[in-house]
Amino acid sequence: MREDGRVQIDVVTLFPQWFEWFTGQRHVANAVASGHDLRFLDLREHTPLSGGQVDDTPFGGGAGMVLRVDVMDAALRGFYGSDPVELRRERRVIALTPGGRMLDEGLVTELAAEPALTLLCGRYEGFDERIVQHFCSDAVSIGRYVLAGGELAAMVLADAVLRKLPGSLGHADSAEEESFSAALGGDPEYPHYTRPADYRGWTVPEVLLSGHHEEIRRWRRARSRERGAASGGASLS
Ligand code: ADE
Repeated sequence: MREDGRVQIDVVTLFPQWFEWFTGQRHVANAVASGHDLRFLDLREHTPLSGGQVDDTPFGGGAGMVLRVDVMDAALRGFYGSDPVELRRERRVIALTPGGRMLDEGLVTELAAEPALTLLCGRYEGFDERIVQHFCSDAVSIGRYVLAGGELAAMVLADAVLRKLPGSLGHADSAEEESFSAALGGDPEYPHYTRPADYRGWTVPEVLLSGHHEEIRRWRRARSRERGAASGGASLS
């Protein structure tokens, strides 16, 4: 976050139009309305190659195409007006790639505290490795599977970061005691129930209807721990 509490997220992509749906979602629109800045930068806009070319065949052979380092250099230079080698000292520049650091709640919290992020979306076989080595501060993965490109991964990351920021969720506490938060010792969230209390004979645990706040808190903490143990996650407390 900047001093004024605002965050800027830039996404560099070959498909800026993909994000129109994303920015239309309420919590994202709320975040933008409350001053956070989301920009979508077209990687093709500044390409020095003819015909809007951005990729090339891999040296050494193999299937697919690789995003060129000179194209990313020109794009970042065009957007920010400086050498991208310097950019990563000013803001986190993150390559979305299946082999990167796994995105989890800890990393999301870390990124939500940054004033500015730049997310680079790969396509085809991914990035020329020199893009990651010289222009990026991080390489992040949303799971050990391969998507057609980094756009969905960028949306996942941006969504998880934005909902942590003030102004995004309706209720101030909504992001406080949720799955994997420090308030829950890093465990998944406890089960929730709402009306009707009895549906087809499936009843809500009695304690939740009891009004005993301390017992409810203990019950929730215990369920949360059970879920953490069942999913193989380590409890922080
Ligand atoms: N790009 C393609 N697959 C990806 C993944 N699993 N995570 C992040 N970026 C990707």
